[in-house]
Amino acid sequence: MTVASPPRILLIVGGGIAAYKALELIRLIRKAGLNVRVVLTKAAQEFVTPLSAGSLSGDKVYTDLFDLTDEAEMGHITLSRQAELVVVAPATAALMAKLATGLSDDLASTLLLATDKPVLMAPAMNVRMWHHAATQRNLETLRADGVAFVGPDEGDMACGEFGLGRMAEPEAIFAAIQEALKPKAQPLKGRHVLITAGPTFEPLDPVRGVTNRSSGKQGYAIAEAAVRAGAQVTLVSGPVNIPTPAGVERVDVETAQEMYDAVHSALPADVFIAVAAVGDWRAKEIARDKQKKGEDGELTITLVKNPDILASVGKHESLRPQLVVGFAAETRNVEVYGRTKLRTKGADVIMANDVSKDVFERDTTNMILIDESGPTNAKLLTKREAAEDLIRYIGTRIK
Ligand code: CTP
Repeated sequence: MTVASPPRILLIVGGGIAAYKALELIRLIRKAGLNVRVVLTKAAQEFVTPLSAGSLSGDKVYTDLFDLTDEAEMGHITLSRQAELVVVAPATAALMAKLATGLSDDLASTLLLATDKPVLMAPAMNVRMWHHAATQRNLETLRADGVAFVGPDEGDMACGEFGLGRMAEPEAIFAAIQEALKPKAQPLKGRHVLITAGPTFEPLDPVRGVTNRSSGKQGYAIAEAAVRAGAQVTLVSGPVNIPTPAGVERVDVETAQEMYDAVHSALPADVFIAVAAVGDWRAKEIARDKQKKGEDGELTITLVKNPDILASVGKHESLRPQLVVGFAAETRNVEVYGRTKLRTKGADVIMANDVSKDVFERDTTNMILIDESGPTNAKLLTKREAAEDLIRYIGTRIK
C-alpha cells in the first residue's frame, strides 16, 4: 500500500459535509500520476473513513498525532515536509483559525504549523461563518503569511442557506494544485523593491492630527506580489491595520517627513513604488499641549507643504532607481492629470486611479497604467489582481 516515491501532495481533510468531495480530489490527483498522502482530522472521520481515503490514495492515512510518536515510522516534521505542497480541503473555519493564530493541538494543525512548504486552502463553511469578522480577519492574516486560497464558491449549502461558503469543486482545487506545483518565474529575483503604503498622520497637538482614508491594502498587495516575484522588499508604511506580509521588511512611520527620511535611508533600490497617500500639508507648529475649545468657536491652523517623496526619488541625481512608479488618485480627468504627474514627479509609470467612487476602503480598484507609450484601458480589478499586473509589468521593464 505504500507509495514508492515521496508524495508530492499532503492533503489534510477537515471535518464538514464537503469532506466527501475530498475523495474525488484524491482520485483526480492520482489519475494525473501524482502521489498524495492523506491526513484526516477527527471531525473529518465522521464523513470519510481512513479506509476509503487510503484505498484511493494507495498509502497509509494519518489521523492522530500519536500515530507518529513512533519515530521509526515517521515524525510529524518529516510528514509535514516530505510533500511539495500542503492542501487543506475542506478548510474549516476552525482549521483556518488555528493556523492564523499558530495553534497546534492535533495532527492537522501541528503539520500546518511545522511545514516549510506552500499551503493551499479550499475553505468550506456556512455563509455566515465565512463572512464573520473573525474568519475574514484570519483569511487576511493567512494570505499575508503566503497561504493560497481556492474558493469558496457561492451556492446552496447543506444547511439550507445560500451564499459564499461552498467548497470549490474538486476539478477547480486540482487546477489550483497544478498551478501551485508549477515552477514560478521570479522576474524580480535579487532586486530591491522599495514601496510606500498607507496614509500619513500629521499631528496638530498631542491628541489630534490630520490623516486620510487610505487603508494601505493596495501597497501591501503590491509588496506581497513583489516578494512572490523574488524581490527583496522594503515597505515604508503609514499607520494601517494590516499584517506585515511574509518576507517583507516593514518600516513604520507616521508623518510625511518620517516617510521621506525612511525612503531615502532605504535607497538604493532597483524599483520605487509610491503607493502611499501622503498628506500634502502639515501644521506649521504642533501645539505642545492639547488645544482647548476656547470661546470664539473658530480655530486657525497654518499648514506648510510636505516634501514630495515620489518627486525626490524620481529626480534623484545619484540614486534614482531604474524604475519609478507613482500613483495618482483623481476624482476627474484621470488620464490628463495622470500624464502630468508622469512629468512633474519624474516617474516612469503612473497608475492613475479613479477615486470618485470611494475606492479607499474597497477591495477593488479601477486603474489605468500610463507610461511613455500611453495609457492602458481601465479595468475593474481586485487590488490583489492589480498588484499582480503591476509586478508582471515591472518584470518586463527591469533590465
Ligand atoms: N506623493 C509623495 N509625496 C507627497 C505627495 C504625493 O510621494 N508628498 C506620491 C504618492 O505616493 C503618489 C503620487 O505622489 O504616488 C501622487 O499623489 P497624489 O496625491 O495623487 O498627487 P499630489 O502630488 O498630491 O497632487 P494633487 O493633490 O494635485 O493631485
